[in-house]
Amino acid sequence: MSSQAPLIDRFARRITYLRLSVTDRCDLRCAYCMPERMEFLPKAEVLTLEELHRLSLHFIARGVRKIRLTGGEPLVRRDMMDLVRALGRKLGDGLDELTLTTNGTRLTEFADDLAAAGVKRINVSLDTLDRGAFAKLSRRDMLPQVLEGIAAAKAAGLRVKINAVALKDINEAEIPGLIEWAHGAGHDMTLIEVMPLGEIEGDRFDHYLPLDAVRRDLETRWTLTDSDARSGGPARYVDIAETGGRLGFITPLTGNFCAGCNRVRVTATGQLYMCLGGEGRVDLRAALRSDNPDSALSECFARAMGEKQERHSFVIDRPGSAPAVSRHMSTTGG
Ligand code: GTP
Ligand code: 5AD
Ligand code: SF4
Repeated sequence: MSSQAPLIDRFARRITYLRLSVTDRCDLRCAYCMPERMEFLPKAEVLTLEELHRLSLHFIARGVRKIRLTGGEPLVRRDMMDLVRALGRKLGDGLDELTLTTNGTRLTEFADDLAAAGVKRINVSLDTLDRGAFAKLSRRDMLPQVLEGIAAAKAAGLRVKINAVALKDINEAEIPGLIEWAHGAGHDMTLIEVMPLGEIEGDRFDHYLPLDAVRRDLETRWTLTDSDARSGGPARYVDIAETGGRLGFITPLTGNFCAGCNRVRVTATGQLYMCLGGEGRVDLRAALRSDNPDSALSECFARAMGEKQERHSFVIDRPGSAPAVSRHMSTTGG
């Protein structure tokens, strides 16, 4: 596919980063993410591997240089490694980075294959190192597998970034320990503010922890220096002198980063969402399955760039408020 006009939205933001969800399914049930009885999509709704691949090539032709595979949990999809291998062949030929965000439960099995396909670094979600707290939060007793998976990724030569959602009364007290552990093992780490996406059983307000307060607390222990490092996503980084590692902050609530947005996301059913925090979407699956997919997709991309919203409007400021959007993170792919 020859290269075509870049994707640029109404606010002159160039879209170079695609977050592609390969499944909405997950083997964990993190309480801030989804309810225990989450309803997943029928498999027939989900794009085939060949469609995911073709769609990715269209995005690359339009200037996307980084693809992050997400879910749900991407590694629960059976043919996922075939997609990784196929996209790995585009590295250096349009694509600068192919990566994934995973909960780590299946990394022991897949770490070597990921590295062999050209993946250099991955983000692993891990909110606590306490087995009981992990089992309670994710509703599954799988911390040992995750830790083995992270070790396997490191052994395979993958750089690992640990992502932790900061949660009041759940992992708040453990945050410094988690950072020390991650940095001690040679991993970067990023803290994330919980976002009001989709209904869950509890109230996100009860556990919302603003990261400006976390940062102030960390500054009473350690020396934090703002870093110019960027990983292509929304995190802003500091270096911590005492631990010798890098810490990122993803602050959708206390520090909006939408002005620098460079990304769009596609769900496992081929819906292109221009913003994690908006309902606006374009149906790429219908375009892919139409008689003239090339022109139908071009129309979709033009519409999407014309409609991409300026910013999300997440707030978590009082108990009982409804989610900003009805989709869960696991549906949109984060
Ligand atoms: P790097 O490539 O390491 O920079 O990763 P990333 O931060 O782009 O991706 P990752 O999957 O690690 O995402 C971490 C968290 O940031 C997840 O909770 C994402 O949903 C969130 N995130 C990523 N992009 C956006 C965004 O555009 N808006 C908002 N509100 N959150 C985002
Ligand atoms: N708010 C913030 N982060 C969330 N994640 C899942 N649901 C939410 C939410 N509502 C996180 C996961 C993972 C990343 C992909 O998104 O913990 O780190
Ligand atoms: Fe699964 Fe990630 Fe949601 Fe946890 S946060 S339930 S690992 S999709």
